[in-house]
Amino acid sequence: MGNRVGVVGAGYVGLTSAACLAHLGHHVTCLDNDEAKVEALRAGTVKIVEPGLPELVREGLAEDRLTFTSDPQSLAESEVVMLCLPTPMGTDGTADLSILEDALVTLSPILSPGCVLVTKSTVPVGTATRIPELTGHRHPVVSNPEFLREGYAVHDFLHPDRVVVGADEPDHEAAEHVAGLYEGTDAPVLRCDTASAELAKYASNAFLAVKLSFVNTVAELCERVDADISKVTDAMGKDARIGPSFLAPGPGWGGSCLPKDTRALLAVAQASGVDFAIVRDAVRANDHQRAMVLRKVRRAVTGTVDGSLAGMRIGVFGLAFKAGTGDLRDSPAVAIARQLAHHDALVTAYDPCVPQSGAHDLTAGPDAIQVVDDPYLAAKDANAILILTEWPEFRTLDWKKIADAVEHPVIVDTRNLLDEQLLDGTGFTVAGIGSSA
Ligand code: UGA
Repeated sequence: MGNRVGVVGAGYVGLTSAACLAHLGHHVTCLDNDEAKVEALRAGTVKIVEPGLPELVREGLAEDRLTFTSDPQSLAESEVVMLCLPTPMGTDGTADLSILEDALVTLSPILSPGCVLVTKSTVPVGTATRIPELTGHRHPVVSNPEFLREGYAVHDFLHPDRVVVGADEPDHEAAEHVAGLYEGTDAPVLRCDTASAELAKYASNAFLAVKLSFVNTVAELCERVDADISKVTDAMGKDARIGPSFLAPGPGWGGSCLPKDTRALLAVAQASGVDFAIVRDAVRANDHQRAMVLRKVRRAVTGTVDGSLAGMRIGVFGLAFKAGTGDLRDSPAVAIARQLAHHDALVTAYDPCVPQSGAHDLTAGPDAIQVVDDPYLAAKDANAILILTEWPEFRTLDWKKIADAVEHPVIVDTRNLLDEQLLDGTGFTVAGIGSSA
């Protein structure tokens, strides 16, 4: 008949979990302290870009299995409460748990004593074992990390590669309860202790970051030895031990997870006396990647890697950290666009998911850039076009029209998105990533 589940936090993890659990037949109450957001969600309005999510939210509302509230008392009857709150990076690289801790102190007296607390958003190793002290040992604690990609969160929740459920003595029954919530998905459920569950999350994201930094460095090497990264990764990806995904070079990895989680893992390792050099190097290689893109732009615009960008117009295509989302958090695209502005280039950016009206943070203050709602306007009089996000719709633009609009027909394509056929007859020359062409 479904469980009574409380979800704390209506961000992309919380909202996706809430809507998907309601879809699986549970009765879900989703709590958020942002009243405007709660009001909008009650009306079925989802303000984040997440394919399939608005439909599931409306389905849950219509079928009375999903409610939104800003009142913590509404979770009093919950059997399970999932904590989906932000754990931002503190100044020393460690995760800041104050939001989570404050929520626990408020909620615990309201929840029934047997109510299972589930940590879902990424938390440092050891958090689950510290929660009982904060809550007076009133609740079983289970670690159930999320592995949701932005832009695919609904798909990843309903068709996960795995569900990880971690619990310590004496909370194994609670873990079974949490595992049961996923009945109806086709996922293998892996049971373990809480520390292993917590570390599995960090290790997965850090491994992905290492994989990408590795590929980005191989791409740089390709440029030096006249090899082609697409051929190299094709060959690598056919090896089942490596796998074909996460092998696309780019302007560097970003977003709200990989940068934060690599640094948090480094902090955990350091505190535990482990030298995790490979992750440290992956972070360093990622910084290098951004600098490398800047050099490519300089070369495209001025002919040399250290030429001046002052007064040069750069048409930036893509601001989100990856396609399929409007998320600008720790986006390499934003960092690179700002760097260009810092070096006195005149940057005009277009992103299909970042409207001009919502880009005030980018268009004011130091290193400001201009944001427009029309790609052809971004290209106007440009000394170079710079592609930073792999939006598929960039491939369907009228590149002849863009060629007519620019001052200088050169494209720096950091996602290797455009091909010769697409640009045939436009007069554009393209500098991609990972080939000498
Ligand atoms: C990441 C993980 O992939 C999820 O499994 C995890 O649950 C999530 O973090 C999280 O911790 O919540 P996400 O941040 O949505 O998901 O982004 P990814 O799709 O992993 O992309 C990360 C970065 O790598 C982006 O900047 C993207 O452009 C870049 N990337 C990805 C590449 O440059 N090349 C690729 O082949 C793949």
